[in-house]
Amino acid sequence: MPQSNVRPETMQRITTPELAEAFIAEQIEELRAQIGGNKVLLALSGGVDSSVVAALLIKAVGKQLTCVHVNHGLMRKGESEQVIDVFRNQLGANLVYVDATDRFLDKLAGVSDPETKRKIIGAEFIDVFAEEADKLEGVKFLGQGTIYPDILESKDGVKAHHNVGGLPEKYDFELVEPVKLLFKDEVRVVGKALGLPDSMVYRQPFPGPGLGVRCLGAITRDRLTALREADAVVREEIEKAVAEGKSAPIWQYFAVVPDMRATGVENGKRRFDWPVIIRAVNTVDAMSATVPELDFSILTAITNRILSEVPGVCRVLYDLTPKPVGTIEFE
Ligand code: XMP
Repeated sequence: MPQSNVRPETMQRITTPELAEAFIAEQIEELRAQIGGNKVLLALSGGVDSSVVAALLIKAVGKQLTCVHVNHGLMRKGESEQVIDVFRNQLGANLVYVDATDRFLDKLAGVSDPETKRKIIGAEFIDVFAEEADKLEGVKFLGQGTIYPDILESKDGVKAHHNVGGLPEKYDFELVEPVKLLFKDEVRVVGKALGLPDSMVYRQPFPGPGLGVRCLGAITRDRLTALREADAVVREEIEKAVAEGKSAPIWQYFAVVPDMRATGVENGKRRFDWPVIIRAVNTVDAMSATVPELDFSILTAITNRILSEVPGVCRVLYDLTPKPVGTIEFE
């Protein structure tokens, strides 16, 4: 039977590997009882919540689970490859990988309004996922990485909690939500106990529309490529600085590429290329955020690498804007 949506007051917080192991054993039993011999479908983004649900379902029902990873072309560098490596190669999951880059980018061509971009990305995602669901016979359950804050927020009317919300009504899947009573930190402890890599378990928040809302205005493939490369440099350098003790951990950090050009000069020649904006914030609940005072050596290391490694970029800026007034994302 699916669990109730209310976290019992007596439920112990999962803070240790031992408690995570006990939770995993209990969930495997419950998932087997709920699913029986039926098939389960899961949209696997590679975020910590869907990854933990996938790993739990693989342990519980193995090949009865089909994971669908939709690459919308707006993933960060190496992300889809990691999903394939961990779930197909290491955990032996049934994983359908759909490279839908062209579909998404064609639909987004010339669209500059952020909310319209979000709607297109969301609707296209549902279409691609539904097409994959149609190819499978006899699926009864839909796995979802719903966590407790999603349930609390949907109760408050803040957001709809159906993660693959918007699936047409003909898909009357029963939901399987094994981490729906857990908070994010507990999901991470469970993910660690399941053996998922740290880069997945401790992944910083990444919005559903992905790089689509960081390649500002109408997305072009060349700016998107520059953004993906610059973003990888920002992440690598900040993670290195944190590992070396030069910076405290930072909640969210990424690159943004605006839809404007700036003048530069190289070997006596004028250039007219894109700026990259570094965005880094600390927050508790994403409702307000502060900007960390990153050491200048970290900022210059990022700048030097982007300018030498990323084609089409001639300027690097650090955004000093707290939330409010600025939101965390630019769009
Ligand atoms: P803002 O920009 O509103 O972001 O200050 C707050 C947090 O939400 C994330 N964010 C999104 N997440 N879909 C998502 O799943 C979205 O469309 C979206 N927009 C913003 C943002 O990355 C930050 O963590």
